[in-house]
Amino acid sequence: MTQAVLSKPHADPMGEHLVPGSNISNPVMIEGCACEVTDSEGRTYLDLEAGPGVVSVGHCHPRVVSAIREQAGKLLQGPGRYYSTLTSGLAGRIAALSDNRLSRVFFANSGAEANEGAIKLSFKHATKTHRQGYGVIALEHGFHGRLSLPLSLTGNAARKKGFGPYSAFPGIVHAPAPYFYRSGAKNELDFGAACARSLEDAIKTRAAGEIVTMIAEPIICVGGVFIPPANYWPEVQEFCRKHRITLIFDEVFSGWGRTGRMFAHEHWDLEPDAVTFAKAIGGGVPLGGFMATETLGTAFDEGDHFTTFGSNNQIGMAAGHAVLDILAEERLADQAAEMGKRFVAGLKQLAITHKAIGDVRGLGLMIGVEFVKDRETKEPHPALTAYVQKTLRARGVLVSTTGVHGCVLRLTPPLVITADQIDHAIAEIDAVLHGAANV
Ligand SMILES: Cc1ncc(COP(=O)(O)O)c(C=O)c1O
Repeated sequence: MTQAVLSKPHADPMGEHLVPGSNISNPVMIEGCACEVTDSEGRTYLDLEAGPGVVSVGHCHPRVVSAIREQAGKLLQGPGRYYSTLTSGLAGRIAALSDNRLSRVFFANSGAEANEGAIKLSFKHATKTHRQGYGVIALEHGFHGRLSLPLSLTGNAARKKGFGPYSAFPGIVHAPAPYFYRSGAKNELDFGAACARSLEDAIKTRAAGEIVTMIAEPIICVGGVFIPPANYWPEVQEFCRKHRITLIFDEVFSGWGRTGRMFAHEHWDLEPDAVTFAKAIGGGVPLGGFMATETLGTAFDEGDHFTTFGSNNQIGMAAGHAVLDILAEERLADQAAEMGKRFVAGLKQLAITHKAIGDVRGLGLMIGVEFVKDRETKEPHPALTAYVQKTLRARGVLVSTTGVHGCVLRLTPPLVITADQIDHAIAEIDAVLHGAANV
């Protein structure tokens, strides 16, 4: 009996035995190449989700595939806590990206684990520097993962419902996000300054103990793609320095070239104490982690932090090296910047005709299109957003919907997307909106 069950292939192709809650639906995807995926019926789709945000180098990049194949024949998993040239080499290459300012690297499996580890590190640092508490500032609308601490840091109440204390780690204070479109403000810089100043209010009115850490996405992505005003991050960094707050950027989505720079915080010449990463660095296999300054990154004592697959996972390391090679050789951050401009310009053009498009915003290939029922009131239009996603999929284009109001179309294609594919995507969105008069 057991033997018969074990040898039965594809016993559950439609996911009947999976725990529900992951939004998994048809079609069944079986192959991917660059910006396209193919389903079990042989239909090909233009993928503007990319994993989401994982396959920045494209699906099954030949170099990633051959690095994985080659490593698979040598060593899959390190035996324990032994040095690996692949792991140390990748840490060295990642540290070199900041000219060794962020000189210490830790490897984990996912974005949630990366954030969990970086916060833990900042707490140990707080202990060692005799701080008076373990408070953390995060941003409303921010997303940091679905494990207990990352979920507590996440600024979206819908994600936390029903989990009680699991999603309410103590000491976390949420401050307003730089969401200009819905702020009601007239001037971006005034709004940026007010938003940065609200962190002082958060400390004075809501912090139970000393705030020692701030974690935020430099560009909030899952929350709806908010490009902050130019003065926001420099002022926030100033605030963190003044209060000796460890500043951690969650670059799980925005890292590895997606926004037109290797890391999004480079757009504002910032110097965070730590940066967390995951998604694209694995090229399609699980790999995450964080990098930190020498002082912060050496705060853990022996045995404080470790995960079985983190630095031992040699497939992830091999893939990570291949991804860094591809990012450099194919100049993918530059490509993202250029293609992002084309995509945003095309979408803004659509907004002239389609009044339901309330806002188009993006940096590189992290783009959001916000749908509203009325441009004056900005009433969110989640039904239209869902319709656009569904209809696009039926026409062979994959996109995500996001944001607390469910009214943002999120476009995060592989960075290898071509100009023709972008033009095709814009034409498809145009056609879908023309057919959506009664939604
Ligand atoms: C900014 C950010 N942080 C953390 C995460 C969580 O990453 P993971 O799903 O790998 O745990 C995500 C996932 O979308 C993310 O976008």
